Amino acid sequence: MARPLVASIDLDAILYNYQFAKKLQPSCKAFAVVKSNAYGHGAVPVAQHLDKEVDAFAVAAIEEAIELREAGIESPIMLLEGVFESSEWLLCEEHGFWAALENEQQLAGLLDSQAKIGKIFVKLDSGMHRLGVDKATAKELVMQLRRSGLVNEVLLMTHFSCADDLSDLTTMEQLAYFESARRDIGDIEASVANSAAIMKWSVPEGGWIRPGIMLYGISPFAGIAGAQLGLKPAMTLSSKIISVRDLEEGDQVGYGRTYQATKAHQLATVAVGYGDGYPRLTKNGAPVMISGKAGQLAGRVSMDMITIRFVGDSDMAMALGQEVVLWGGDVPVEEVADYAGTIGYEVVTRMTSRPKYRYLTSQ
Ligand SMILES: Cc1ncc(COP(=O)(O)O)c(C=O)c1O
Repeated sequence: MARPLVASIDLDAILYNYQFAKKLQPSCKAFAVVKSNAYGHGAVPVAQHLDKEVDAFAVAAIEEAIELREAGIESPIMLLEGVFESSEWLLCEEHGFWAALENEQQLAGLLDSQAKIGKIFVKLDSGMHRLGVDKATAKELVMQLRRSGLVNEVLLMTHFSCADDLSDLTTMEQLAYFESARRDIGDIEASVANSAAIMKWSVPEGGWIRPGIMLYGISPFAGIAGAQLGLKPAMTLSSKIISVRDLEEGDQVGYGRTYQATKAHQLATVAVGYGDGYPRLTKNGAPVMISGKAGQLAGRVSMDMITIRFVGDSDMAMALGQEVVLWGGDVPVEEVADYAGTIGYEVVTRMTSRPKYRYLTSQ
């Protein structure tokens, strides 16, 4: 019998979520952000499914963009961090990539290479202080790019540091700084919004939005699951029970004996572990579904296995081969992430290549 761990990826859900993002900001074009292997969902199959439907894709690095082109992806692809080496500019021209640009070195590399680029997004540092330049420098970069004659269109982009926190007014301050930079430059299209901003903030009309996590049906907001926002979660991670035993009151389970039964109950072992991407730091009590009934993690996550029990008393007996959903369906990945002390973004992005990946579509 093959190891029963399967990550099912609902490609139609990802397309639905992309269209949902566009409906929320109908005046904007939208990148489908598929960096980091489409947040663990599989960049090539995801991009192949979306290719005819999206305005463009966005990735973090040219290697990711080339992988998509080699898989036959025809839509424009934007490099969110621009080039890391000047030699990449000619590859951008060859493959029709667009790029962010955030420093003089990237500009010098472009001018040296004389590569022709469709769109360059000059990155304004509006308060994140990670990438980008202040507004005077941004204006200078825009002017030099326009003068170079190498770029069809120059746009201005920025990234929010706190858009996932609706009580934090930093986003308003960043937007105000961005808009003042735009006014100084004059006529220039904008790109500011990640998923949180698309869903909950008022962003500039026109230009480009950059939905990432929401494409996968996952919420960027603490305490709210993707489905509660109207998104369709795309990944279901499921496996099967491979061993069952009866615990006595007081029995302790697994590495470090971190779970102790407070009364007699059944315990099942499931084929999934941190070697697959199920986070090792997930605490006892994390939700699972066992043949449609609520269960929970009971014991430390091992590399290849976890141990689980029903929540409360169950009249159903555990049995070998029963299906266990680790996340997806009725188990929000955001909740599992919370038990692991992290966020949904990290849980799915850290999926390994070990589970079998099944891509589901009605087309
Ligand atoms: C520049 C940029 N834009 C957009 C995104 C997508 O963000 P999210 O996944 O929160 O929608 C990211 C992701 O980190 C990013 O770095």
